[in-house]
Amino acid sequence: MGYEYPVSQPWLEGRELEYVTEAVGSGWISSQGPAVKRFEEAFAGYNDVAHGVACSSGTTALTLALRALGVGPGDEVIVPEFTMIATAWAVEYVGGTPVFVDCGDDLTIDAARIEEKITPRTKVIMPVHVYGRRCDMDAIMDIAFQYGLRVVEDSAEAHGVRPVADIACFSLFANKIITSGEGGICLTDDPWLAGQMAHLRGMAFSSEHNFLHKKLAYNFRMTNMQAAVALAQVERLDEILARRRDIEKRYDEGLRDIPGITLMPPREVLWMYDLRAERREELRRFLAEAGIETRLFFKPMSRQPGYLDPVWPTLNAHRFAEDGLYLPTYTQLTAADQERIVGAIREFYAAG
Ligand SMILES: Cc1ncc(COP(=O)(O)O)c(C=O)c1O
Repeated sequence: MGYEYPVSQPWLEGRELEYVTEAVGSGWISSQGPAVKRFEEAFAGYNDVAHGVACSSGTTALTLALRALGVGPGDEVIVPEFTMIATAWAVEYVGGTPVFVDCGDDLTIDAARIEEKITPRTKVIMPVHVYGRRCDMDAIMDIAFQYGLRVVEDSAEAHGVRPVADIACFSLFANKIITSGEGGICLTDDPWLAGQMAHLRGMAFSSEHNFLHKKLAYNFRMTNMQAAVALAQVERLDEILARRRDIEKRYDEGLRDIPGITLMPPREVLWMYDLRAERREELRRFLAEAGIETRLFFKPMSRQPGYLDPVWPTLNAHRFAEDGLYLPTYTQLTAADQERIVGAIREFYAAG
């Protein structure tokens, strides 16, 4: 708040208001309204996946996916070092243990280092498409097949990356590529898994709604009002992704020759425009004074108080966390906005 150029802001200029007004006007404000199903079908259809299960956040989407796959106490789940902590915490919420694998040079999980972390207790691999960069899914699916493991894609930051795993989980938080304010959705081709996730999301009510609950479940439901926003966003997802591709190209071109800046590999879809910066803290202060917000990269999981591990300084993820930041990235960012931002960065390094 307060920045002329915040790192993100939602773009709500389609039919969002119309659909929310419809939802409120119809009285369907809980999770039982028609927009939820419409959103689930629209997003699943967009991704060529058979089933969508909308829920309350990206974190609860991951939790539902792991529960549906039967992950519980004693089970291990392979999680990348370089991610937002929700990926690891979802494993904890179901009683499992996250086992961390370092990232490669594109920040996504280093597929070549997964096998060394597999044990007889490993049940799931959970790659994350960090900042919209697609993981090496061919290699990950091969490993999973070889060891009889299931795969959950954490696609919180990667709407537009086509799912290939057992389940893909998306966040719809307000800073994501598309949003419902707060929200999430799981996609799967497996009707049984979809049914399980829908059942667990809604307190495991029986179909007769007779208040007999045969398993521990959750209220992770998405409201009809949130789904109304999400539906309007899905309708424009192609346009949103195209605009973001242009934003990525313009940042690449503008920043390419600035000494002090190292560009990152291209992204399959642009969530946040990430880069590496010399004298990062000074640069961030300079940009903040110019009204430009930046954010730091994720801290490696081994540096988190809950997972402290003395190996962290040796990790690739740590190297990136030391000098990485991301720039304002939102769909309505114009070429003129980007010139201002790139100009400020150029000015900072020119001043020495
Ligand atoms: C990689 C990743 N996984 C999971 C999440 C959790 O999503 P949410 O904030 O919707 O719970 C996030 C969100 O910020 C994320 O970046």
